[in-house]
Amino acid sequence: MNIFSFQQKKEQQEKITMITCYDYTSAKLLSTTTTDCLLVGDSVAMTMHGFKDTIAATMVMMQMHTAAVARGATNKFIVTDLPFLSYRKSLSKSVTAAQQLMQAGANALKLEGVMGNEVLIKHLSSSGIPIMGHLGLTPQFIHHLGGFKVQGKTEESVKRLKEEALALQAAGCFAIVLECVPAQVAKAITQLLAIPTIGIGAGPETDGQVLVIQDLLGLNPDFKPRFVKAFTNGHEQLKAGIDAYLQSVKSGEFPQHEHSF
Ligand code: KIV
Repeated sequence: MNIFSFQQKKEQQEKITMITCYDYTSAKLLSTTTTDCLLVGDSVAMTMHGFKDTIAATMVMMQMHTAAVARGATNKFIVTDLPFLSYRKSLSKSVTAAQQLMQAGANALKLEGVMGNEVLIKHLSSSGIPIMGHLGLTPQFIHHLGGFKVQGKTEESVKRLKEEALALQAAGCFAIVLECVPAQVAKAITQLLAIPTIGIGAGPETDGQVLVIQDLLGLNPDFKPRFVKAFTNGHEQLKAGIDAYLQSVKSGEFPQHEHSF
């Protein structure tokens, strides 16, 4: 997969698949699947570090998790999030942040929003760094948005979203994530753009879909937003495996001679 394959998939109406990934073991597992790409999302702050939002993600976190994923999934296209404010201080500091994430093993970077990012996107894409945009519910803006809320519910905000999507395309983004926008809005933006859209909570008519790995595996049964589908009951299955180990240690069934030296 490369940025041309994203474009080709849109043109051939073949769905793009993206899954978040934060660690070596999951990356090894995902490297054996057909997923088109992996996202080292700043959701890592929540899923792997237990923070309540993505504001807590840092460059140190993003570099370390990107490097682990790159070691585990050498055959996959890896997109990494530029974390909160890492691309808002100055062009020079943003370029340094981008360089560090690319050198950690990313193949492309994702950043949220448009206003004030156009020059940076142009600069990074013309410096060899493919950029994925992110519109709609942009979690780095939750304090501005008033929480994790569906976006694009008024005529005015739909107009703004369309203008923002076109601006990201013009700046050089190779794809755009649309998060938590009504399905009809996502469909209209997808039809408006030449570059592909990848949806999460954005209905079925985007060019691709992304989900957080813990959510699709059902590892967090208490977290059930409408847009998530658990494709397996990972929490119960893993717990059953752990319970079986504990039980067999207590009963003396494990270890046996074949497990001993
Ligand atoms: O950080 C993340 O996991 C994301 C996805 C929800 C698109 O940005």
